[in-house]
Amino acid sequence: MNPGGGLLHDRVAVISGVGPGLGRTLALRCAMQGADVVLAARTRDRLEKVAAEVESTGRRALAVPTDITDDESVAALVETATAQFGRVDLLVNNAFTVPSMKPLARTEFQQVRDSLELTVLGALRLTQSLTPALAESGGSVVNINSMVLRHSQERYGSYKLAKSALLAMSRSLATELGPQGIRVNSVAPGYIWGPVLQGYFEHQAGKYGITVEQIYEHTAAASDLKRLPTTEEIADAVIFLASPMASAITGQCLDVNCGEYHH
Ligand SMILES: NC(=O)c1ccc[n+]([C@@H]2O[C@H](COP(=O)([O-])OP(=O)(O)OC[C@H]3O[C@@H](n4cnc5c(N)ncnc54)[C@H](OP(=O)(O)O)[C@@H]3O)[C@@H](O)[C@H]2O)c1
Repeated sequence: MNPGGGLLHDRVAVISGVGPGLGRTLALRCAMQGADVVLAARTRDRLEKVAAEVESTGRRALAVPTDITDDESVAALVETATAQFGRVDLLVNNAFTVPSMKPLARTEFQQVRDSLELTVLGALRLTQSLTPALAESGGSVVNINSMVLRHSQERYGSYKLAKSALLAMSRSLATELGPQGIRVNSVAPGYIWGPVLQGYFEHQAGKYGITVEQIYEHTAAASDLKRLPTTEEIADAVIFLASPMASAITGQCLDVNCGEYHH
C-alpha cells in the first residue's frame, strides 16, 4: 500500500480490458503506486469488485462498463473519466479475448476482422479519444502486446496478425504523438503465471493425467530463468514505462518473458 507516494503518485490511469488476469493486477499495482484508476471492460460486476479492491489501497476507482469496439461507449468512458477525475495521465490498452486458434489458411475472415477490431482498432479508438487529455497531462500510452511477436507457431496466426499490427500502430503513434509530449510504448509478456494460465494448466493436467507442476516445469524449461513471469511482474514493467523513470523512452517494446525469447 502506498497512498502517499509512488511512481504514479496522483496520476490518473485508464485501463481498458479489466479482466481477472493482467487487467485486475494492473489496476491494483497502479493504485499501489499512487494512481487513481478508471476501469473499463464490458462486465460491470467484475469492474465493481476490482474497484472495491483498488479503493482498499486508499486510491479512487471508477468502474465504467465499456465496449472498446463501440464509438459511443468509448466517448462516454472518456467523458466520465475526465469529468470525475479531471485528467488522464496513462492509458493501458489490455483488452483481450481468446483469438481463433485455427490455422490461418482455415480461419474465417470474420474471426480475423473481430480480432483486429478489438486489438488494433479498439486501442486506436481509445488513444484517439484520449489524445487531448494525454497531451494536456504529458501522459503516455502502454499497449499490451505478446511474445507471439517473437514466434510463428502454428495456430497463432490470427493473434500474431493482430498483435503485430498493434506494435506497428504503437510505433507510428509514438512518432505522431511525440511532438505533443505523449509517449507510446508496448509490453510484450510471455506466458503470464496468474489465475488465467493456472486455470488452463489445471484443465490440461486433468485432460492428460499429469500434474500442473509438470506442465509448469515443461513450459518454463524454454526460458533462461526456468520460471514464468507473474502477473505482477508484467504490471510492474507497464508502470515503469508509464512512470517518470521512463521519461525518455517512447516507441519501444519491452519483452517480459524470463528470457524465453531474446529480441
Ligand atoms: N494470459 C497470458 O498468458 C498472456 C500472454 C501474453 C500476452 N497476454 C496479453 O495480456 C493482456 C491481458 O490478458 P489476460 O488474459 O490477463 O486478460 P485479462 O486482463 O484477464 O482480461 C482482459 C479483459 O478484456 C476485456 N475485453 C474483451 N473485449 C472487450 C471489449 N470489446 N471492450 C472492453 N473490454 C473488453 C474482457 O472483459 P469483458 O468481457 O468484461 O469485457 C477481458 O476480461 C492481453 O492483451 C493479452 O493479449 C496475455
